[in-house]
Amino acid sequence: MAKVKTTFFCQNCGSQYAKWQGQCTSCKEWNTIAEEVIQKPEKSDWKTPTSATKRVSKPLLINEIDSSQEARLNMQDGEFNRVLGGGMVHGSLTLLGGEPGIGKSTLLLQIALKLQYKTLYVSGEESQKQIKMRAERINPNSSNCYILTETKTQNIFKQIEALEPDIVVIDSIQTLHSDYIESSAGSISQIKECTTELIKFAKETSTPVLLIGHITKDGNIAGPKILEHMVDTVLQFEGDRNHVFRILRANKNRFGSTNELGIYEMQGSGLREVSNPSEILISEKDGELSGNAIAATIEGLRPLMIEVQALVSTAVYGTPQRSATGFNAKRLNMLLAVLEKRAGFRLGAKDVFLNITGGITVDDPAIDLAVVAAILSSNEDVALPSTYCFAAEVGLSGEIRPVQRVEQRILEAEKLGFSTIFVSKYNKIALKNTVIKIQLISKIEDLVGFLV
Ligand code: TYD
Ligand code: MG
Repeated sequence: MAKVKTTFFCQNCGSQYAKWQGQCTSCKEWNTIAEEVIQKPEKSDWKTPTSATKRVSKPLLINEIDSSQEARLNMQDGEFNRVLGGGMVHGSLTLLGGEPGIGKSTLLLQIALKLQYKTLYVSGEESQKQIKMRAERINPNSSNCYILTETKTQNIFKQIEALEPDIVVIDSIQTLHSDYIESSAGSISQIKECTTELIKFAKETSTPVLLIGHITKDGNIAGPKILEHMVDTVLQFEGDRNHVFRILRANKNRFGSTNELGIYEMQGSGLREVSNPSEILISEKDGELSGNAIAATIEGLRPLMIEVQALVSTAVYGTPQRSATGFNAKRLNMLLAVLEKRAGFRLGAKDVFLNITGGITVDDPAIDLAVVAAILSSNEDVALPSTYCFAAEVGLSGEIRPVQRVEQRILEAEKLGFSTIFVSKYNKIALKNTVIKIQLISKIEDLVGFLV
């Protein structure tokens, strides 16, 4: 009988060891190293060795490489296409991570149902009936989507060979197991092996593969970090489960930028694309309330108007509280210090709460001015006109600094019916014939003059 081969893996970072030890030397976690049985025949291929056509690739001049094949597959979903960088690339492997129940299966099933291409949806988590029930709610008439419930990669490849799908979706990578490895599904060595087989399959047949991955409680995709290095694109599906909005972003993308954002709304019949997010991110209210200001930001290539809410109140306890949701708390403290020092507002003994509505997180510095305006408005209890919006960065000496792509922001604000936008005096603006009033300011005191 062949000797059983085992190796020790750190369940946290995926490092490999020859023998057990208490602490992982690479990630320094204690008690994470576990023994896994691996048994590899000489060849692990996505096809059985006999049926594999042996191809040897030759070097080609870069000008001779045919790039027409790189035309992307249209996923029939505007948000998904944009986050991928214009559609899916042939032969690419995309990993979609996200918390349980956030809607990963819903998103990919919905895309699979809408596609014009022959799609194979492999599920190791739900039965065919359960998927059918869900599909009926989302899109009852789809004619190109095949559902397979299977967890063994060799069987999946057998079905793929028979069906020859154009796209394969795997829900989820942690449920797969390969015959070549004996450890249980979801273990580091299984995840690595199954992903390697899928990569080989994707590259050899030019079929794009979408993988769903679970995440651990600290927000990383479960399994070795190496998994993220192996795939071409890592997408993250996030959002507050209590909010209806879901945000799709790319953490890694070999074929496009990583600063595009896709926004969806969870409805009873699946996820709806939100193609004009500004309208939903600005809450509707009767009358003007103090402490609200609108920022003209840019996420990726898309301008986005978002609402900033501030609440400034006298501190009840000795130490005032500062809390920010969706905004960097250190940056909030810095802005408060600038307001105190440069504009003479005594905020040192006040509680300040800041919230970006819609549950999204912004790191565009152009939001600074709206944050300052919201704080001033709440502090003075004076409502800002709801047709004002802001786009500028605030410097340490209270100067209002220019931001990139200001013209795009101005045009978006104009499109949404804002009457005035506050921007830095130092921004070069070539726009002519705008209906919106462009208010140029250079110091934080200027803003105070306008608002209070
Ligand atoms: P699911 O896709 O199963 O999450 P994941 O695969 O990321 O674990 O999403 C489950 C949630 O989505 C569930 O809480 C109910 C909600 N949902 C809807 O609100 N509407 C729908 O049409 C569907 C299919 C799900
Ligand atoms: Mg799921």
